[in-house]
Amino acid sequence: MERLLQGKVCIITGAAQGIGKAIVERFAGDGAVVYAFDRQVGVMEQWVEACAERFGTRVIPVCCDITNSAEVKSALMSIHKQEGRIDVLVNNAGVVFNRKMGMIVRDETELMFRVNVIAVLELVQLAARFMARNKTGSIVNIASVTAVLGSPGQVAYSATKGAVISLTKSAAKELASQGIRVNAVAPGIVETERFTELYETTGNKIDQRIGKIALGRLGSPEDVANACAFLASERASYISGQILGVDGCASI
Ligand SMILES: NC(=O)c1ccc[n+]([C@@H]2O[C@H](COP(=O)([O-])OP(=O)(O)OC[C@H]3O[C@@H](n4cnc5c(N)ncnc54)[C@H](O)[C@@H]3O)[C@@H](O)[C@H]2O)c1
Repeated sequence: MERLLQGKVCIITGAAQGIGKAIVERFAGDGAVVYAFDRQVGVMEQWVEACAERFGTRVIPVCCDITNSAEVKSALMSIHKQEGRIDVLVNNAGVVFNRKMGMIVRDETELMFRVNVIAVLELVQLAARFMARNKTGSIVNIASVTAVLGSPGQVAYSATKGAVISLTKSAAKELASQGIRVNAVAPGIVETERFTELYETTGNKIDQRIGKIALGRLGSPEDVANACAFLASERASYISGQILGVDGCASI
């Protein structure tokens, strides 16, 4: 069977759990060499090894706080030195604080912008420099349906994801001449560890939310990973600057 990402050198951030973990597994299953970035790599050690063995590829955990520019730069430089190329970057790492308007806290908002926007921008900048040397590359940013549809209790968070959508479209235009495509995936509600927290803190009724999803179910991390694998691959070679909703046709 054809493997979509055979031999591609891919960096995935926020890889330790949730959607990021599913992207690592999907990419490894597609034959990619995966560098799995997270600030907490201890939890990755066991499954990363099993994953690499199962799919006959390499999956390398990288301990990195993406808000630390020096750490990120040095990690990307050493990957490029080792592999001679960087083909794919998936900006998945993100933080969320759910607060109703009157409860928004500045420190939390600043942290969300640092992780969800500024670090993403810097990673795009850095990875693009390496990708440009081979005149090819694909960047996939994880946005959110909240940026498109809005979501009560997520005003600050949705603003960070709106910024991700804007930077994706502009970066796609700027980097196209260097053979680099930039797209985003905008998930709806995905069943991860985060999902439980969201519903506990905002008091949302899950049945009501599912009622607003035309396909009648929550998303799985694998649904998002499948979209990322497609956008990262040559199958999407004429697709750039796009925001692909993976939300079961939601109307939050
Ligand atoms: N789960 C959902 O319903 C949902 C919906 C829409 C969008 N998203 C987006 O998808 C992405 C993944 O979501 P998730 O639910 O899997 O989240 P998660 O919280 O389960 O996992 C996020 C991962 O990012 C890592 N991370 C956070 N800050 C970091 C930093 N500074 N440096 C390095 N790693 C860092 C964490 O350690 C964690 O492993 C996020 O960007 C999120 O905003 C999630």
